[in-house]
Amino acid sequence: MKERLEALKAEALQELAQVTNQQQLNDMRVKYLGKKGPLTEVLRGMGALSAEERPVIGQVANDVRGAIEAVIEGKQAEYQQAETESRLRAETIDVTLPGRPSGLGAMHPISKVIQQIEDIFIGMGYIVAEGPEVEQDYYNFEALNLPKNHPARDMQDSFYVTDDILLRTHTSPVQVRTMEKMKGEVPVKIICPGRVYRRDDDDATHSHMFTQIEGLVIDRNIRMSDLKGTLLQFVQELFGKQTQIRMRPSFFPFTEPSAEVDVTCAMCGGEGCRVCKQTGWLEILGSGMVHPRVLEMAGYDPEEYSGFAFGMGVERIAMLKYDVEDIRHFYTNDLRFLKQFVHL
Ligand code: PHE
Repeated sequence: MKERLEALKAEALQELAQVTNQQQLNDMRVKYLGKKGPLTEVLRGMGALSAEERPVIGQVANDVRGAIEAVIEGKQAEYQQAETESRLRAETIDVTLPGRPSGLGAMHPISKVIQQIEDIFIGMGYIVAEGPEVEQDYYNFEALNLPKNHPARDMQDSFYVTDDILLRTHTSPVQVRTMEKMKGEVPVKIICPGRVYRRDDDDATHSHMFTQIEGLVIDRNIRMSDLKGTLLQFVQELFGKQTQIRMRPSFFPFTEPSAEVDVTCAMCGGEGCRVCKQTGWLEILGSGMVHPRVLEMAGYDPEEYSGFAFGMGVERIAMLKYDVEDIRHFYTNDLRFLKQFVHL
């Protein structure tokens, strides 16, 4: 039996030496070490051996099995390594291949214009304040001297959520909220940018949602001339040094006196053109001295304090500054339009 085992080992090792691939190796493993292989068969015959012979033959059989296994394991490792190497070679990444470009986002032109305007006022010592877009009737109207059923509420057709809550129609409620928060302290010097909503039919110059920037200054001895000087400084920084302003009497319930402010047309320099409809002037904002009643309701004694306020539409400013003919361009997100403002 010992000889049979030795012969089996010699035969197996010789045959294994001829093996050249994984498939053949698998076959060899089955052939020599498998359940139906000769080694298993020999081991099965051990029962017939004497008690002395059994351990000796058992030892030999184990050695033979070990020797065959060692060769198979060795080859197996070799093939595995070769396989891994060839897979890695096939999978190599060409690091010189250019990547897929991912488009860089950019700020929306309205956001940029808000920033430009904010920067100008921050340079004059103003603080940026914000307030809710869903607003109480009290802040949007009542505290601004527009009691319920006041006809001037019609100037700003509104989207109501409940009887008492609406989408704010202007950024002026932020004035009231700020004054309340300041509890009678001065100076108040803020600008408030934000979205506002009105029941307007959308066309080239109207939108049911647009952006306003409100300004408010309160202190002792604030006069109309402070308002005028501030606005002149502002428009000259925004539209250029040559820009002039003119103030026309107007009406807002929350300011007295009130004024519409026009700037000289940047397109024609005041000569008259298509943009300014041959007038040489463009209306850009509403303004005035804060109404004594508004001061009083917010906790400021109108005998001691006075203030001015102004409000402008950001889209209108952007349209004038960049010669955009339709307000809807700002909301329809056509990249061909938006890309023109990437480098502002
Ligand atoms: N809130 C006004 C409007 O939306 C603009 C304005 C603001 C006028 C501040 C005067 C003072 O029409």
